[in-house]
Amino acid sequence: MVERPVGVFDSGVGGLTVVSQLFRILPQEDIIYFGDTAHLPYGSKSKEAVTHHSLNIANFLKAQKVKIIVVACNTASSFALSSLRENIELPVIGVIEPGAQAAIDTTRNFKIGIIGTEGTIKSRAFEEVLKRIDKNVKVFSQKCPLFVHLVEEYSLDKPWTKQIAEEYLSPLKDEGIDTLILGCTHYPLLKELLGRIMGQEVSLIDTAEATAKAVKRTLGEKNLLRKGSRKAVYKFFVSDDPEKFLQLGRRFLGKSIDKAERINLEEMK
Ligand code: DGL
Repeated sequence: MVERPVGVFDSGVGGLTVVSQLFRILPQEDIIYFGDTAHLPYGSKSKEAVTHHSLNIANFLKAQKVKIIVVACNTASSFALSSLRENIELPVIGVIEPGAQAAIDTTRNFKIGIIGTEGTIKSRAFEEVLKRIDKNVKVFSQKCPLFVHLVEEYSLDKPWTKQIAEEYLSPLKDEGIDTLILGCTHYPLLKELLGRIMGQEVSLIDTAEATAKAVKRTLGEKNLLRKGSRKAVYKFFVSDDPEKFLQLGRRFLGKSIDKAERINLEEMK
């Protein structure tokens, strides 16, 4: 069991921000990644659709004999985590609980902001977990549907990206939050811009880093941490043409991916 890989999935390339943190925090672990590029974006899809795809992917990862499943997508974590935990007999870690805990550990005025996709904000998943941890916390949410496209279209430094970000963040600034959860896989790439807009007194929570730490904790508790000195092996799968995934992947992962294999999960059923 210890020697088995860590399974990670996302709607596409975004989950590679979580993988880059796993590389840093758990360098000895093998990783199998699945990017559901044929069905992205998840952010504007229904709970039913996202849960359906998430279960298919989790079953695929289970068949690859992974020892844990990391839902490296905020929308899939928001909509499908409980179904995954009910149906897959493996530990399942999402990005919501680690991100929410990191925000509670950081805030001083207990006013926390969340930004994410339409689905993540609509699900209120972050809000529920935050209030479960501390019922006195005040939560302010804002969907930012254009951010994913701006990041994928190489528009990080464009003036319109700054304008859109200012527009999205202005209500959260007005509420006086001191902590902002970056509740989407793509937002770590916008961290510098968002930090400049929110100002130094607001802490930004990167759910990718908090999640990688939670994976380490869970594997440790279950005695599943790999200890050997063999170099870790990484495999990437996608459900559509790998070309764009490979192109964009480098920016999310911080290093290039040589190969991604395309597979159709519906055909495999
Ligand atoms: N990975 C998604 C998330 O973190 C963003 C991209 C999408 O909408 O599929 O919510």
